[in-house]
Amino acid sequence: MTTPLALIVLAAGKGTRMKSVQPKVMHRIAHQPMIAHVMQAVQPLGAVQAVCVVGKGMESVHDAVGKIWPVCRFAVQEEQLGTGHAVAAGMKLLEQFTGDVLVVYGDTPLLNAQTLAQLMETKRQSGATIALCGMNPADPTGYGRLVMRDAPYVERIVECKEASAEEKRIPWVWGGVMAFDAAFLREGLAALAPSPLTNEYYLTDLLAMSSARGHKNIMVPMEVEEAMGVNTRAQLAEAEAALQQRLRAQAMENGATLIAPETVFLAADTKLGRDVVVQPHVVFGCGVSVGDRTEIRAFSHLDGATVGEDCIVGPFARLRPGTVLSARVHIGNFVELKAAQAETGAKINHLSYVGDAQVGAGANIGAGAITCNYDGVNKHCTTIGAKAFIGSNSSLVAPVSIGEGAIVGAGSVVTEDVPAGALAVERAEQKVKPGGAAVYKSRRKPGS
Ligand code: UD1
Ligand code: MG
Repeated sequence: MTTPLALIVLAAGKGTRMKSVQPKVMHRIAHQPMIAHVMQAVQPLGAVQAVCVVGKGMESVHDAVGKIWPVCRFAVQEEQLGTGHAVAAGMKLLEQFTGDVLVVYGDTPLLNAQTLAQLMETKRQSGATIALCGMNPADPTGYGRLVMRDAPYVERIVECKEASAEEKRIPWVWGGVMAFDAAFLREGLAALAPSPLTNEYYLTDLLAMSSARGHKNIMVPMEVEEAMGVNTRAQLAEAEAALQQRLRAQAMENGATLIAPETVFLAADTKLGRDVVVQPHVVFGCGVSVGDRTEIRAFSHLDGATVGEDCIVGPFARLRPGTVLSARVHIGNFVELKAAQAETGAKINHLSYVGDAQVGAGANIGAGAITCNYDGVNKHCTTIGAKAFIGSNSSLVAPVSIGEGAIVGAGSVVTEDVPAGALAVERAEQKVKPGGAAVYKSRRKPGS
């Protein structure tokens, strides 16, 4: 039988160094708040309860967490008196809980689900009271040092600020992930005293307490990158870079070709099908999926778009939220789509804006044709039937519909519906004056 698991996520830190009005854990990497990444990493462990410890006025965190973990509860830590104090605030909501309690930080967005699973498995197999992730960073400054006479068992953790010169030479440090027996954690926190040096309650003091009672504390190694905490904007950018590397590797692993992966920016939820080709310098916002064999050409920007199979998008295309392309749709250079559906085989190849529109199968939108969807107050829809042909530089003034197979002559400003099969032309009659070019040139004076 598996031991029930509860989760405590510490997110009360204000993140003063971010110089932001937002709580630190709400800053985004790969278009998703850091706390959401953490919640996703812990999700596969199947915790039966989750508590997020937040500071005062951090309601935005509730929304972000609730989207991933709707039953997560929130404990408010009024004053930040240290990690031990923060976990105690969380444990108040887990008074009746028996089993394991996993503590993670909300500002470590690169945590890996496999590492957490390994930690819990090691705890179970070893029968340890505490299991913790340790790491061996190039510069251990600031981290709590793991005192181990009999590795991987940890006797105690000494905080960097409190460590002797000899202890500071210990290369192994705590990475910020720790799992406890709930009963021990409850008792240990109650017995915790603040550090005389900093007045903070250190969660890490629980290791010495556990050792004194003859319990085992076991360390599981983790990659330094995974424990990367974000305290500054520069670290946010570092975490972004590291996550982008992972997302690119995953996309390629799943069968997409990225010609210059380091120039492609993905969102955490980007879905690329098999044999998708992404040319250099493509940016994906939230909620994009791309069907098999589609090519996204260079310098395109996709956001909230669903792209079907065998499409060509770009170069220099912009797909905005609500864009849905069926199979074999071609979207060319300098074309922008917003809340627009294009059915199978439709072509919008050059310099168009198509917003709040439906484009039928096989329809062709000529260069520079646009939908005028906004009258300055309201948005209106345009419907273009299957196999319709919209001539270059036409303006379709919404609300308007162009019937199946209809043709709109180039340069027309279409304000009324065009029935199926009809030809609509709206432009001034052309005047041709034979020999008029010479007359025109003779009237021009030199230098004018
Ligand atoms: C802590 C550990 C240290 C470890 C390091 C790993 C302690 C005493 N020290 O140090 O051993 O190597 O993390 O990153 O635990 N938080 C609250 N409320 C508080 C204090 C902190 O919610 O009152 C949250 C912070 O938002 C943060 C996390 O707990 O997410 C860690 O706090 P931080 O102040 O960064 O601890 P460190 O000094 O880095
Ligand atoms: Mg820290």
